[in-house]
Amino acid sequence: MSLPKKMKDHAAKHAEATVPHPEAARKQAAQGKLLARERVTAILDRDSFHEYDLFVEHKCSDFGMAKKQLPGDGVITGTGTILGHPVAIFAQDFTVAGGSLGLAHARKITKIMDHAIKLGIPLIGINDSGGARIQEGVNSLAGYGEIFYRNTLASGVIPQISIILGPCAGGAVYSPALTDFVFVVDNISKMFITGPEVIKTVLGEEISMEDLGGARVQAEMTGNAHFYAQSEAECFEQVKRLVTYIPWNNRKKADAFSVIPSRSEVSLESIIPAESNKPYDVRDVIKAVCDGSDFMEVQALWAANIVVGFARMDGRTVGMIANQPAVLAGVLDVDSSDKAARFIRFCDAFNIPLVTFVDLPGYLPGIDQEHAGVIRHGAKLLYAYSEATVPKITVILRKAYGGGYIAMCSRHLGADFVFAWPCAEIAVMGPEGAANIIFKGEIAAAADPEAFRKEKVKEYTEKFASPYVAAANGHVDAVIAPHQTRDFLLHALEISEEKQELRPQRKHGVPPF
Ligand code: HXC
Repeated sequence: MSLPKKMKDHAAKHAEATVPHPEAARKQAAQGKLLARERVTAILDRDSFHEYDLFVEHKCSDFGMAKKQLPGDGVITGTGTILGHPVAIFAQDFTVAGGSLGLAHARKITKIMDHAIKLGIPLIGINDSGGARIQEGVNSLAGYGEIFYRNTLASGVIPQISIILGPCAGGAVYSPALTDFVFVVDNISKMFITGPEVIKTVLGEEISMEDLGGARVQAEMTGNAHFYAQSEAECFEQVKRLVTYIPWNNRKKADAFSVIPSRSEVSLESIIPAESNKPYDVRDVIKAVCDGSDFMEVQALWAANIVVGFARMDGRTVGMIANQPAVLAGVLDVDSSDKAARFIRFCDAFNIPLVTFVDLPGYLPGIDQEHAGVIRHGAKLLYAYSEATVPKITVILRKAYGGGYIAMCSRHLGADFVFAWPCAEIAVMGPEGAANIIFKGEIAAAADPEAFRKEKVKEYTEKFASPYVAAANGHVDAVIAPHQTRDFLLHALEISEEKQELRPQRKHGVPPF
């Protein structure tokens, strides 16, 4: 065959493998879902997608599979760029056998994962799959296992992003759970280990797929998802934005962005109420100090009593962690400890400095919390901050009481710089509680117990509920006016650029789980 004929033959083969089955495509569109190929091109820079393994075929002959041709074996794999950043990508194609995962399908994914690890580029997975391909039996389970193994090898080496754009059951949810960020879309994403049918059969409980594992449930109740969007288009914009904040791999730093739009006009002095128990939105503080008030919040809907996310300071990415006084007074609890700890470990693995804003009354008391294991969950936060060797800068805004003071990146957990605003209150507990305990006997014996109690609360407030005792002991490096915060942070970040902190050799730590 001449080359022109071979090229014609190739074009026909290519079309056969890439043109979607009309009925399956219609069904996908009716559900408001894009096709796998459309998704890949929507995320990547125009014309940057380079596809591999298009002609891979399955080798299964059971249950009528010998006669079944599955284009690309139900998954598209390749490399491309997002805003110029290289990425490896795979997208499961629900129009081909429900995107189900057979061995060839899995091996296409593991091959692109191996590339991503070797090349040191982020991996993006678009998941839209009925799970293990039933006809392939144990081979499809083997395929999942090989993916989980690589997810784990890649953890902390390259960023891994999962986008859930369809049903993801069983094995299909464990790979995303092993990755760094999970994106979900309203009405489209569903994640569960066992679906409604199994739950009904085994337990007699009835629940819809949406109520069991829909996007909102995963973003708000379980914390399995990190980003929630109303549409696929919005989700892809979120993915692109995230990629600009993170480095290609753990040997690099995230690219700096030299164009810095104007900052928030809100004055920091006006954000915090005069009364120390009044709430405010700590995101206003973050937006007032970072470049262009541009803050990308992670897990915004879950455990909202702590705020975590990415921002830039003089163009460089920083990870922001802040207690949120507007939700549960910003207390630490099981979920907020988990949320912050995971975020800190991501930032540390990928050379992103940490800036922590502190304003919390402590850990949430309660039987539920104790029985939910707040001890081991809270310990994750202590571990994550202590383990992190990236620059760590802490700003105590207002309350920093007891265990909360220590846990929120105090000097004692290795903070490089600790600053405090003049309204900071650093003490074992709030003045009311402290006075009630210390002077219990005297209050009871006083002629006017309430007047005596108030006097002691005032005395305690003046003596301890300030930043100056901590500053006098060197636990706080500088007491700064709120409007000096950005300047102090920028300087601290700049001089920490080459920070090195060596640790004793070990295979790996054993963090609380
Ligand atoms: C083979 C599958 C499949 C699967 C779907 N299909 N799931 N083929 N193996 N797991 C096929 C269907 O037969 C159908 O083929 C096509 O994909 C579209 O599926 P529909 O059912 O028509 O689509 P829909 O009504 O939208 O329902 C989607 C669905 C449902 C909810 C995902 O298909 C479903 O429940 N599938 C099974 C899910 C599951 O139990 N998977 C195993 C999980 S266990 P045709 O030819 O008719 O178009 C697991 C083990 C791993 O993953 C554990 C590792 C730790």
